[in-house]
Amino acid sequence: MPLRTKIDTGCLPQYLGTSEEDTALIDLATNENRLGPSALALRAYAEASADLFRYPDSTHAQLKAALFERYGVPGDGIACGAGSDELISLLTRLFAGPGDEVLFPDFSFIMFLRYALRVGATPVRARTIGYRLSVDAILESLTQKTSIVFVANPNNPTGSYLPKSEIRRLAANIPANVPLVLDSAYSEYAGDSDYSDGLDLMDEFKNVIVLRTFSKLYGLAGLRIGWCAAPTSLVDKLNRLRGPYNITSPAQAAASMALAARGHEDASREHNKLWRTRLTQEISQSGFQVEPSGGNFITVIFPNPAAAQGAHRHIAGMGMLTRPLHDYGMPECIRITVGRTEDNERIIEAFRGLAQLRNA
Ligand SMILES: Cc1ncc(COP(=O)(O)O)c(C=O)c1O
Repeated sequence: MPLRTKIDTGCLPQYLGTSEEDTALIDLATNENRLGPSALALRAYAEASADLFRYPDSTHAQLKAALFERYGVPGDGIACGAGSDELISLLTRLFAGPGDEVLFPDFSFIMFLRYALRVGATPVRARTIGYRLSVDAILESLTQKTSIVFVANPNNPTGSYLPKSEIRRLAANIPANVPLVLDSAYSEYAGDSDYSDGLDLMDEFKNVIVLRTFSKLYGLAGLRIGWCAAPTSLVDKLNRLRGPYNITSPAQAAASMALAARGHEDASREHNKLWRTRLTQEISQSGFQVEPSGGNFITVIFPNPAAAQGAHRHIAGMGMLTRPLHDYGMPECIRITVGRTEDNERIIEAFRGLAQLRNA
């Protein structure tokens, strides 16, 4: 059975905008860190405001130095973007165009699809096993036309992740001339010893590109800052393609200092782990199916789309916004970001209420 699915490029799903009504709700729909940024990052941001008349550093030197110190990736192997989103866009523009295929797993980050369509390439979705990514399916979906492969690990919106051994097997079997982009936006939350963000594979596999972001664990989504580790020649191309001042000075300053705030990182990770586990357990105990997650969110699977919609509305009625997943082809699911303690407690309460309604 062929494992490739062509997408009807005529039916680009609408972006799920936020209605006025939704903005009054507590947002558990966008996978932000509800604990916010670290005090160090906030101070750096405020201090940078003294120099707002200056253009930002177009070389991102301070941030690259901080990333080198933290991850050992040299500056000429790093490209910084206005969120990892900009880097996904630039990479797609660089590698794909009409006649090319952009390959990624089904039920995966929607911007892979959107940017592929934007450059006129054909998006190809590899099948999943249930909601889980499958290396075999990705490999079987490769064709002569595949020009770039994207894999979010942990995956958004499902939360699950491929262990390092599987990511290695994937990298080892993708042709050396096809870039494999490992989108590790949620890597800080995955944390287990069998996980790799892909940085450790880059020496061995020259086509591996790793994407990271400051939008999740570091709580800086509003500043739009992400980075990618890539071979020097590719970094050079990305730098030529991006705008010279793509990242504002306060964003560069805050992100650089965010890397030094280890206490905030640990606290955010611990909070997430505690509540991700508790939410999973409690919601499961209420009789709902939850995908195991390595991210800062969980995905709840309902028996049908109407039940998912009902849950979304019920939770909205309690003041919280969750993410329906129909534009991901998962209308039977909703995704819920791990929130503050009080938000999480209310989510658990909401599911207890839903269980009562269901059993009434
Ligand atoms: C898998 C994945 N990659 C990339 C992004 C984009 O993150 P940003 O552009 O904020 O860095 C997101 C955001 O939700 C995501 O879930």
